[in-house]
This record gives sequence, structure tokens and C-alpha cells, in this order.
Amino acid sequence: MDKLLITGGSRLEGEVRASGAKNAALPILAATLLAEGECVLSNVPHLRDVTTTMELLGRMGVVLTVDERMHIHADASRVKNFEAPYDLVKTMRASILVLGPLLARFGEADVSLPGGCAIGARPVNLHIDGMRAMGAEISVENGYIHARAKRLRGIRYSMETVTVTGTENLMMAATLADGRTLLENAAREPEVVDLAHFLNSMGARVQGAGTDTIMVDGVDCLSGCKHHVLPDRIETGTYLVAAAMTGGRVRVRDTRADLLEPVLAKLRESGARVDTGNGWIEVDMDRRRPRSVNIHTAPHPAFPTDMQAQFCALNSIAEGVATVTENVFENRFMHVLEMQRMGADIQIEGNIAICRGVEQLTAAPVMATDLRASASLVLAGLVAEGDTLIDRIYHIDRGYDNIEEKFSALGGVIRRVHT
Ligand code: EPU
Repeated sequence: MDKLLITGGSRLEGEVRASGAKNAALPILAATLLAEGECVLSNVPHLRDVTTTMELLGRMGVVLTVDERMHIHADASRVKNFEAPYDLVKTMRASILVLGPLLARFGEADVSLPGGCAIGARPVNLHIDGMRAMGAEISVENGYIHARAKRLRGIRYSMETVTVTGTENLMMAATLADGRTLLENAAREPEVVDLAHFLNSMGARVQGAGTDTIMVDGVDCLSGCKHHVLPDRIETGTYLVAAAMTGGRVRVRDTRADLLEPVLAKLRESGARVDTGNGWIEVDMDRRRPRSVNIHTAPHPAFPTDMQAQFCALNSIAEGVATVTENVFENRFMHVLEMQRMGADIQIEGNIAICRGVEQLTAAPVMATDLRASASLVLAGLVAEGDTLIDRIYHIDRGYDNIEEKFSALGGVIRRVHT
């Protein structure tokens, strides 16, 4: 099994390119199911979750090809299988995103229930409730969601909790529904906005994405289009935090500062100099130790839960004491237990991690438990004294494009080993 071996102590310096956003690419790939013609996607990141989604779509009958420029061509004109089976869904919860498109276009979907995961229970009740309200008949049996509908109808639906993939699923379903749908308390994440742009390029009529009320006027059919996936703000943020932790200076290009405002504000508070320009962000910590920063996660535009683990890593070696409060998922502190094994002084009380910065972490064998937890262990490894061996890095490969090459290019000592 692959592991990452990291020798800590190098100061990161240089430039790295942000890949396309995983959490935009996945719903956009699912949305290609809605089109009667070919969609061409550029800036799709090279990730396990993307490969899994392509396998899922391929099994349904979507014809997928990758051209010499690495653009993905998806042709859903001959889809004949409407099932998302357990063997794929269990490896990637985002498979639930095919529910809305399949139901809207083909009136039929059998999608395995994702179940719990390492960061919490993560139910999909709102996806199901919303589609029921749109007129779908849905039963949950033998671990599968069986959904049927003639034509979905437009509704006014207020989501009880802000949910990113829930908003995306209902927005996709509404594009082909009869009449107008109003989604209230919608997620405002940039990835929801990117999906709305893609849907509108296909001929959908979506307005208000990026606000908490999304209005969709249903149309009879959607056609193929071209789309460039937006940059990954979480990957961008991860490299910037690495710069701050190592006292380094890193510029991330092909990204957008406006996607990361709460993260950049926290980096400034930690003592880093943050400069931004057209398509780039640079963090310079000028060989200093960061100051610890308090974090409260919440849906966009507040501080993203997907950057929480990386800031626990920063706080673990920063000057001072700070709290990290996780408000989105109930069990997202698994990385803290691993960091404690590296000498971090972090205590967990309910959904709060109290971080007392230590001068130096020490290397230890550690285990990745979920995607962002793994990233935070890489950051910890980059500053720890000695060689850190991270096991179960398939979690990292789900969401970080070429992580060891990108960190190596910045001067990090990191390599993949097979043991
Ligand atoms: N929730 C419900 N019922 C639902 C749906 C969600 O109670 O039907 C609750 C969840 O249990 C959670 C909260 O609502 O407590 C928010 O969850 P949300 O549905 O927004 O999460 P998600 O859509 O499953 C996406 C990202 C996650 C990211 C979260 C929050 C994708 C593919 N995944 O998940 O990304 O953490 O939004 O921003 O977009 C990651 O990339 O590492 C990752 C986990």
C-alpha cells in the first residue's frame, strides 16, 4: 500500500499551480447526464474521486473520452442504466449527485445510500425530501434509494440545513422540471455557483446561485456545452497554510483570491503577509513562527470546514493558544488524535479543539482518516523533526492532485513509498 514519507524542516518557497476544484468537478460531471449533446470540460483535476465519477457515469452508458489537452468529453445521449451501485458509492459519497440528474431526465434512479463516514453521520434526507416535494416517488429499501417520477414539478422548498450537495442535487433536478423552483436557505459555496454557470451554458435557467435563494425555471431539454472548472480554493488554501507553517513564501497561481477571503484573513491574522493579484495569491511568513488563530467553521461565506484540519496543524506549532470550533460536521477532529502522537498539545472538548502551540512537532507514523485530515498530517510532517510516514494516503489521492510533486517543487522533502 502507498504511503507518504516526509522529512520535516524545509522552508517552502516558490510557485505552484492550483488544480480545478474537486467539489465543482464532481457535480459538473454528474450534470453531464442532463445533456442531450456532448459536454467538454477543461481544468478537471486528476483525482481518484474524478476517476470514480467517470467510472460511475461510464457504467450508466455515458461515453467519456479524454483528449490530448486533458479535456473530458462526456456524451450522455445513450444512457441506459440508472443505477449508482454500492461498490462505487461506498468509496465516494458524492455519487449521490447523480440522483437529481437521472430523475429529472430519465424519471428513474436507483442510488445506493452513502451511509456514515469518518467525519460524521452525513445523512441525505434533504436531497430525498426535496425530490419528493417535486413529485418523485421515493422508497428506501435494501440500502438503496429508489426514485421514480414522470416529470418533476417546480416547487418552493426551504432547506432545513444548509447543504452543498443537497442544493446542487435539487438545482440540477429543477432544470428539467415543469415550472419554477425556488430553493431557499440554499448553499452559497462557489462550487454551487460554478455548477449553475455550467447548467446555464447547457440552456438551463438558473438565477441567484451564490445567494441563499436560487430560482430555476424548468426547460424541456438541455444541450452540450463547454466549461472550464473553477480553481480549487481548498487546495489553494492548503499550500498557503504550508507556506505560513514553514516560515516560507509561496505563490499559488491559476487561483482566485475572492474564493478564499476568510482563509486569507486568518493567514494575515497569523502574521503572514498576503498579496493577491490577477489569478494568484502569495503568502510570505518571512521565516517567522505563525501566531495561533481562533477558527469557527460555518457554511460559505464563513470559514470553510474543509480548511479546519489545516489550521489545527498551523495552531499546533504557532505561538499562543487558540480554539478551533467545528460547526458543520460532528466528528471532524480525527486528525487531532494523530497530531497528538506527533507531540501536538491539542485537547478536544465537544466540537472545540483547544490548541496550545508547541515549538516543535516530532515525526511519528500516522494514519490518514479522511481527505482533509490527511492534508493536515502532511502539513504537520513538513514541520516535524524527523521522518513522518503517513499511512492510508488513498484519502489524499481522492482530493489532492499530485500532492508530492507540488510540495517537492516548493522544496518540501516528500515522497511516495510502497510498503
Ligand atoms: N445534512 C443533513 N441532511 C442532508 C444533507 C446534509 O442533515 O440531507 C447535514 C450534514 O450532516 C452536515 C451539514 O448538513 O452536518 C452540511 O453537509 P453538506 O450536505 O453541506 O455536505 P456535503 O454536501 O455532503 C460538501 C463537500 C464537502 C464539504 C461540505 C461542507 C462535496 C462533494 N463535498 O459535502 O467536502 O466538507 O460540503 O462544505 O461538495 C471534502 O472535500 O473533503 C469534503 C468533505
